[in-house]
Amino acid sequence: MRKNIILIGFMGCGKTSVGGKLSRALHYRFLDTDQLLEDAFGCTIREFFAREGEEEFRRRETGLISDFLGSLGSTVLSTGGGMPLREENAKILKKLGTVFWLKASEETTVARLRGDTGRPLLLQGDIEETVHRLLAERTPLYEAAADYTLETDGKSFYEIIKEIENALRWHLMPH
Ligand code: S3P
Repeated sequence: MRKNIILIGFMGCGKTSVGGKLSRALHYRFLDTDQLLEDAFGCTIREFFAREGEEEFRRRETGLISDFLGSLGSTVLSTGGGMPLREENAKILKKLGTVFWLKASEETTVARLRGDTGRPLLLQGDIEETVHRLLAERTPLYEAAADYTLETDGKSFYEIIKEIENALRWHLMPH
């Protein structure tokens, strides 16, 4: 079974859009942890956060990816932006496949997320302040969890996918 491609990164960096297109280009399956969790919860992530809280959401994220160990192959897996917050999750993701961090600048991130109502962490406070604070907290965690970092600012989906394919070629070749 071929290994998997894992996409991590902050909210709004394009994991789901890139993941879908990449999976079609490679003839891989596409899975998105947020979508799978919403299916399992039977409600939106926003509703789940309001009802059960963030800690429970994080616990369910860990449960979901742990269940993939030993069974997932030939899949592009997009993950929720908070997935690498738990060290345990970062370890599981590395075991599952090659981890790509889709990195976007703070300005691009704010512009993409302004007006968003589906993401519970953005519902309170000023968007600029929230993105600034969370990016500062999370950047080292994304860095540590990733095998490859991809700068996405100003790049088309096509360019991002080509970069991932090139990196995979190197990664898969013995050297
Ligand atoms: C979260 C990101 C969201 C979703 C949840 C929490 C986060 O996923 O999992 O709202 O903590 O950054 P996206 O990155 O797909 O928006």
